[in-house]
This record gives sequence, structure tokens and C-alpha cells, in this order.
Amino acid sequence: MDKIKVLIADDVEETRSLIAKILELEKGKFQVVGHAADGLEVLELVPRLKPDVVLMDINMPKMNGLLATEAITSKHPEVIVVMMSVQGENEYLRKAMFSGAKEYLIKPVEYDSLVGTLVETYAKYRPRPRKAEGAPDKETKIFAFYSAKGGVGKSVVAVNAALSMSRCKGREKTRTLLVDLDLKYGDLGILMGMNDRKNILDMVDGNQLESFESMSEYLVPFNDQVDVLLAPKSPEGGEYISRGVLEKVFGTVKKHYDYILVDTGVNYDETTLYALDVADKVVLVSTLDLPSVKNTKLAINVMGTLQYSREKVKVVLNRSGEGAGLKEKEIAEVFGEHMLDILPSDPKAVSQSVNLGSPLCARKAAIPGRFMKKIQEMCCKLDA
Ligand SMILES: Nc1ncnc2c1ncn2[C@@H]1O[C@H](COP(=O)(O)OP(=O)(O)OP(=O)(O)O)[C@@H](O)[C@H]1O
Ligand SMILES: [Mg+2]
Repeated sequence: MDKIKVLIADDVEETRSLIAKILELEKGKFQVVGHAADGLEVLELVPRLKPDVVLMDINMPKMNGLLATEAITSKHPEVIVVMMSVQGENEYLRKAMFSGAKEYLIKPVEYDSLVGTLVETYAKYRPRPRKAEGAPDKETKIFAFYSAKGGVGKSVVAVNAALSMSRCKGREKTRTLLVDLDLKYGDLGILMGMNDRKNILDMVDGNQLESFESMSEYLVPFNDQVDVLLAPKSPEGGEYISRGVLEKVFGTVKKHYDYILVDTGVNYDETTLYALDVADKVVLVSTLDLPSVKNTKLAINVMGTLQYSREKVKVVLNRSGEGAGLKEKEIAEVFGEHMLDILPSDPKAVSQSVNLGSPLCARKAAIPGRFMKKIQEMCCKLDA
């Protein structure tokens, strides 16, 4: 995820440095872009430093935090202001919320509430670019990744594909939502280093299925282009997600994204079938060993009985080049017109990225590795 850029505004130097130290300890999440000692300085720094969040003290010299907040939120509505004040200044806090602040913290700020409030407020109010400009009539495309056998790399492929959709020519400004519908054992939180974030069960528990605004708190941003709807943290949580819930979620979020990619479960339960049904394309991920090829062939037959068109069902062979696999050419012939692409095995790079929770295709490599390059090619073919 991109770091949240924070500007700290407080006239007391020790308070600023204490907050900066806490945020420094969480440097995977935050970047402190500057300090300000009064309201006027904040107004001067905001356009220059472009913070995502201003942590604003109320009582400051020259211009107080309330006036500064009003000025910022009207001139720079994309900037989120979180107010800070000492216990007992309730009347001020009420005014702060009227002046455009989104949240408040009581001083002295505590570690957990500072980190939690900043992360949650940012997730809720961060500016969300709408679908790609220049293509307003373009339909949202849904791609579901399915496999007839576990452990073939379906989640790794889905994550890296989601991060690569915007890299095809002419699609730089696209917005993608990645949904983990492996509802019992979803791994996307781990693969993307965002395991502790809100998930689809929190959305259902919080009764937040009415509008995109209420859902958006649970669509966790990974970067500017990709949001993620994570799976419940434990297998029993998956029981509460029905086809009806998915109909509401997909129906509401669809118009806000150019692509929705879904990492499905392995069975044909009602939620998986929903994802397969609504998908424009189903990508069957298989490895090159006989059991996986056999089961993928059976899955293609099932898709036929579900009356999916032949063009809708695509096969991607993953982990090609691993010693004992079957021959690529022969397998490609078995799948015929369903073949979409073959992805190389890259045990070192892939397993390192999996264990670090840092997807390969999120990295800004000058020369992309072979797995990353092939994923990009696959995405462009998928969207052709
Ligand atoms: N192209 C690749 N090269 C090397 N290793 C890979 C590749 N793709 C996936 N892997 C390895 O395979 C493992 C399983 O991948 P992944 O979790 O994506 O599989 P899955 O099909 O989603 O499994 P599950 O059925 O548990 O959901 C990963 O830990 C990763 O290290
Ligand atoms: Mg998986």
C-alpha cells in the first residue's frame, strides 16, 4: 500500500516529535512529510507538501486549528484533517467537526489510537478516483480466477494480474478492485501484506451494504489504482457471506471500477458460482502436472454445462519449466482455443514475494522479471 503522507501541526515541539516518532515506528504505513507550528504555516505547507492527512492541534498561535481547517478543507478538499485537542475541549471538537475535520484525537495521543485513527480515517475518506476518464461508457470487466485443484498459484496469479491491469497500453488510469472470494481460506491479505485490514465480514457485520459510500471503508486501498476486498479472517466467517450479499456488493461497486478481479474458492458453492456467472471471463489456473490438467479439463466441461460460451473460459498454465512437468505444447493442444497463456515458474522471486507479503507486480522494477513480464502480457490478452 502507498504510505499515508502526514503533516503534523502543533505549536509544542515535543508533541510534534512524539507523534513523528510513533509514525516513524510504523513507517510501512506512514510518511511524515512535514511539521508546522501554527495555522498559517499549515496553509503554506499543504499545497507544497501535498499531505494526505493533516494532524491539527486546535490551540495554535497566529491562526488557530479551527480556522486553518476551514481554509484547508474548502481549498484542498482532498486533504483529510484529523483534529487534536486536550480532554475537556468538547465544544471545540464539535466546532472542529463543523469546520470540516473528519476525526479527532484526544491529547496526549496514545500509540494505538493514533495509528488506528489515521489508518481508518484515511481508508474511509481518501479521495477515490472514479473509473478511467476518457472511457466513460466502457463496461466494467469482471475476471474470475478459478482452479480445479488447490495450490496451483491461483491467488498469486490473481493478485499480480490485478496489479498489472493498468499496465496495458492506454489503460494507465484504470481502477481495479480485487475481491477475495476464497471465503474460508482466503490468502490475499497475506500475499499483499494487508492481513490486519477490514474485510467483507466486517462490512456485513457493520450493516454497510446500502451504498458505495458505506462500503468504501472496507475496500482497502493497496495503491492508487487497486483496492482490495479481503476475505473473513477465519473459516466460519465465510458462512455469513451469501450470494445475496455478493449481489449487493457487486451491484453497488461495479460502476466505480474498470476491472473487478476475483480470486474464487475451489468448490462450486453458491458464492463461487455467483462469481463465475457474473464474470466476463473465467481464468482456469492449472499447473503442468497430470492431475491438475485432468481436473482443469473437467472444469471446462462443467463450464459447458453452465452454458458459458467457449470464449468466456480461458486456461492459464502456471509454473512452467519445473522439471517433471508435462510438455507445454501437448497440454496447450489439449486445451485448444481455451489456452490464454503460460506463466513461468520462478520459485525464488515468487516465494520470496509471497513470504514478504509484497507482490512482484507492485514493484517498480526497471527491468521486470520474467514472471512479471508474462503476467502483464496475460492481462493485455485477457482484456483484448
Ligand atoms: N509461477 C510460480 N513460480 C513459482 N512458484 C509459484 C508460482 N506461482 C505460485 N507459486 C507458489 O505456489 C504457492 C501456492 O500459490 P497460491 O497460494 O497462489 O496457490 P492457490 O492456487 O491460490 O492455492 P489455494 O488452493 O491454497 O488457494 C505459493 O506459495 C507460491 O510460492
Ligand atoms: Mg489461493
